[in-house]
Amino acid sequence: MFSRALGWASLLALGLQVSQVSAIAKISAVGSKFFTSNGDQFYIKGVAYQLTDDDPLIDTAQCKLDAALMKELGANTIRVYHVDPNGDHDGCMSAFEDAGIYLFVDLETFDTSINQDFPYWNSTQLEAYEKVLDTFHNYDNLAGVLIGNEVLTRLNGSQAAPYVKAAARDVKAYRDSKGYRKIPVGYAAADIPSLRPMLQDYLACSTNSSENVDFYSLNAYEWCGDNNYAGSGYSMLQKNATGYSVPIFFSETGCNVAPPRTFQDQSAILGPEMEDTWSGAIIYEWIEETNNYGLISYGPSVAAATATATDIVGGYTRRGTPTPVSPDFSNLKSVWKTLTPTGVKLSDYTASTSTITPIACPASTSGGWDLNPSAALPTLGQTATLHASGSTGASGSGSSSGSTSTASASSSKGAAAVGARPFFTEGATTGVFVVYTAVVGFTGFMCLWL
Ligand SMILES: *[C@@H]1O[C@H](CO)[C@@H](O)[C@H](O)[C@H]1NC(C)=O
Ligand SMILES: *[C@@H]1O[C@H](CO)[C@@H](O)[C@H](O)[C@H]1NC(C)=O
Ligand SMILES: *[C@@H]1O[C@H](CO)[C@@H](O)[C@H](O)[C@H]1NC(C)=O
Ligand SMILES: *[C@@H]1O[C@H](CO)[C@@H](O)[C@H](O)[C@H]1NC(C)=O
Repeated sequence: MFSRALGWASLLALGLQVSQVSAIAKISAVGSKFFTSNGDQFYIKGVAYQLTDDDPLIDTAQCKLDAALMKELGANTIRVYHVDPNGDHDGCMSAFEDAGIYLFVDLETFDTSINQDFPYWNSTQLEAYEKVLDTFHNYDNLAGVLIGNEVLTRLNGSQAAPYVKAAARDVKAYRDSKGYRKIPVGYAAADIPSLRPMLQDYLACSTNSSENVDFYSLNAYEWCGDNNYAGSGYSMLQKNATGYSVPIFFSETGCNVAPPRTFQDQSAILGPEMEDTWSGAIIYEWIEETNNYGLISYGPSVAAATATATDIVGGYTRRGTPTPVSPDFSNLKSVWKTLTPTGVKLSDYTASTSTITPIACPASTSGGWDLNPSAALPTLGQTATLHASGSTGASGSGSSSGSTSTASASSSKGAAAVGARPFFTEGATTGVFVVYTAVVGFTGFMCLWL
C-alpha cells in the first residue's frame, strides 16, 4: 500500500514536472515573419478580447471558461486593448497559456494614447507604456505589444506618425535596457485608403531597425459577405505589403454587414494568396455587444437603462459561461479547421533575412502624406509644431521642452480625454467606410464607459 502510494506520488511529481517543462514556445519576429522558439513559423488565429474596459485579464475563473471555448474554436491568440498594469494577471495568463493561446496587448491607456491632432510623445506616456510591459514581459505567451491603435485616421494626420514611431523606438530601447526578451513591438492601423501604404512603409522604413516597429498590423473590414480576393480589396492589401520588411497581420477583421459571417477572408489570409506575406488575423470580437460582432454571448441583452448588476455594462452581461453565437462561431471554427499554413522553418529562413531591406520612406507630397522622409524622429518630450497649413514638420529639431507649444499641449490634454478618440472623418461614402465608422465609433463608445 505504502509503496503504491509512493509510486503514485512520484508519478504525480513527474506529471507536474512534465507540465512545467512543456511551457509554451515563445514568439519572436525574424525578418518579415513570426517564429516560435521551436523554429516553426507562427500564424495568428486570434480573437479580440475586451469584456470590460479596464482589464479582462484579472478574472481567472472567467479566463478559464473563455480559454477553453477559444481552444475549441481553434484560436491561438487574443488581443486585449486595455489592461491595468497594477492587476494580478498570473491566473489569466496561465489559463490562456494552458490552452495554447498567446496575447497581443496594447500598451497605451485611455489618457496616454498619441493624439493625431496634437501629437506629442513624453515621459508620462513612456512610463505608462513601460509599466504595462513590466507587468507582462515575463509571460511566455506574450506574443507582442502595441504602441497604438488607430492613432492616424486621416491623410492630414500624417504629422502624428513620427510620434508613433518615436514611441516604438523608446519602448524597444526600454525593453532592451531591462534585458527583457525581444518582445515584438508594433502598431495597429486603421484601414484608411489615403494613408495606404505610406503609414505602413513609414513605420518600418528606417535603415536603423531600432527606430522601426517590429511588426505592423491593420484593422480591416473590407471583405464583407460573399466576396473574393480581388473584389474585396485584399489583392491590393497584398500588393501593398509585398516586400514588407517586418511581419504584418490583420489586428482586426470580420465585417458583419452581410450576415451571417462566414469568414471567407480567412482562406485568403491563411491560404496561398497571402500566407507568404501575412501572419494571420484577429477576429473582432469575442463578446457579443450592441455592435453585433460577438462570437459568443454570456446571456441575452438586457435593457441598458434598467441594468444595474455589476456584470452588465451597455446592456450586455460581461461574465459567465460563454455560449457560441450561431452560426458565426461554428462558421469560424469550420473555416479555421481547414487552414493550417506551416510557412517556412526558421532554420531555412534565417539566411535569407540578410537580403531583406526596408522599403523606402514615403516621399512628401503637398496635400498628401506630408512628412520629410529624412527628418529625425521626435525626441522624448517633443510636441509637434503645427504649421499654418495644418501639417507639421515633425522636424526633429529637438525642441523637446514642449514649452513653446503650450497651447497645443494643453488643448491636447482635453482632446486626449476619454471619449475623444479620433473618429474617422475622411470624406468617403462607400459601404465599407460606413462599417468602418461604426467600428471606430464603437471604440469611442467603449471609451465612454470609463
Ligand atoms: C539607431 O537608433 C537608436 C535609437 O534611436 C540609436 O540609439 C542608435 O544610436 C542608432 N544607431 C545608429 C548606428 O545610428
Ligand atoms: C497600394 O494600394 C493602393 C490602393 O489602396 C494602390 O493604389 C497602390 O498602387 C498600392 N501601392 C503599392 C506600392 O502597391
Ligand atoms: C484635417 O482634415 C479634416 C477633414 O478631413 C479637418 O476637419 C481638419 O481640420 C483637418 N486638420 C488639419 C490639421 O488640417
Ligand atoms: C506629457 O503631456 C501631457 C499632456 O500634455 C501632460 O499632462 C503631462 O504632464 C506631460 N508629461 C510631462 C513629463 O511633461
